Amino acid sequence: MSVPTPHSELSHVWPIGSEIDGAGRLRIGGCDAIELAREFGTPAYIVAEDDLRARAQAFVAAFSSRNADCELLFASKAFPCTAVYRVLAEEGIGCDVASGGELVSALRGGFAPERLVLHGNAKSEAELALALREHVGTIVVDGADELERLERQLDGGKAPQRVFLRVTPNVRGETHDGISTGQADSKFGVELADAPALLDRMRGNDRLDLRGVHMHIGSQLRDLTPFRRAVEAVAGLGAFPEIDLGGGLGVAYTSDMDVPSIDDYAAAKVGAVHEHLGSDVRIIDEPGRALVANSCVTLYTVETIKRNVSTWVAVDGGMSDNMRPMLYGARYEAHVADRFGGGTPCHVVGKHCESSDVIVRDAELADPRVGDVVVTPVTGAYGFSMANNYNGIPRPPVVFCRDGDARVVVRRETHDDLFARDV
Ligand code: LLP
Repeated sequence: MSVPTPHSELSHVWPIGSEIDGAGRLRIGGCDAIELAREFGTPAYIVAEDDLRARAQAFVAAFSSRNADCELLFASKAFPCTAVYRVLAEEGIGCDVASGGELVSALRGGFAPERLVLHGNAKSEAELALALREHVGTIVVDGADELERLERQLDGGKAPQRVFLRVTPNVRGETHDGISTGQADSKFGVELADAPALLDRMRGNDRLDLRGVHMHIGSQLRDLTPFRRAVEAVAGLGAFPEIDLGGGLGVAYTSDMDVPSIDDYAAAKVGAVHEHLGSDVRIIDEPGRALVANSCVTLYTVETIKRNVSTWVAVDGGMSDNMRPMLYGARYEAHVADRFGGGTPCHVVGKHCESSDVIVRDAELADPRVGDVVVTPVTGAYGFSMANNYNGIPRPPVVFCRDGDARVVVRRETHDDLFARDV
């Protein structure tokens, strides 16, 4: 099953079902973007619920049509919002959590504990205890110290704990250094050479049920070759009943960007497992970004426009709601929500007190004016999750849209919320 494309006038970066109406106004999930901005204020994360569901279904179909025994996990760090957990739990996938906080969020979002997989390169005693207490299905052991810590906490009376060992296959995909994890010189997992001893130790502990190895070589990967090479690299560690392949599929952030389809991604990963490990292996995959990124757009309002050497279009959000341009040099596109098209070269910037607060450098807006609603697509992954209160800016709400109905699933932060932890 492939993901349907948005309305023909809009590129593949927009949420499924998006369109520009007869008056030239953007609609997301059947809702008018200008009305949404008026009703819920800006900045706001606007999610097309159908898009989330369609991509979850596409991932499940792509993997399960190629391998009888598969499990898809939502890498929830990408969008750890209770309502998103809820939708994806309803779609029948499992969930990857990377901390105690994500673990309780996933439970609150409705995931059954046995569908949770706990990750993390520095899990604390407390996080391991929480996972065991909540009967989390699987723990991915990240190294020797953690294994020791886990072994100390295991209760002999319980069924053996399902575990994987995370390995770094020494395969580097082409992506930003900050999100590359498959290289040997990494803080994640254990090197291939160190894995056999730890695997033996895990096999020898009857309170552990060693299911296989886990790897995650990096994120926003647009070439599928490294995924195949990584499977080949870990195949040398021997045969296991399961393999967890991590996530990593890149998404298109701008209309001129092409990325492999979900289907191509599944074909590459499953094909490599079949080639190097046979077809009798349960395959687990952990998409984060490619599951949620394109489901969401951010709406902003233009506060001020300055013309000096460049034209600076300043909006009411910025690096507090989207850190990705500043952290990874990520490119986005921006449009006036009721006046698509270019004409005015400008930089779309935020309201934060530093010059790195540029959301889209070298944008082209159609005659931008103060009060315009500006939209940036593809903000569903790692926007909400890395949002912050720099300059005391309250974090934006999350609004779900479907069939013309909009509902707030996370309210806007208030100034009072900024003092909620004061004692
Ligand atoms: N599994 C594990 C163990 C991971 O660490 C990650 C992401 C994923 C799965 C999901 O990867 P994805 O399918 O999303 O590529 N903040 C960065 C991304 C950090 C990714 C961290 N790990 C960004 O905004 O680009």
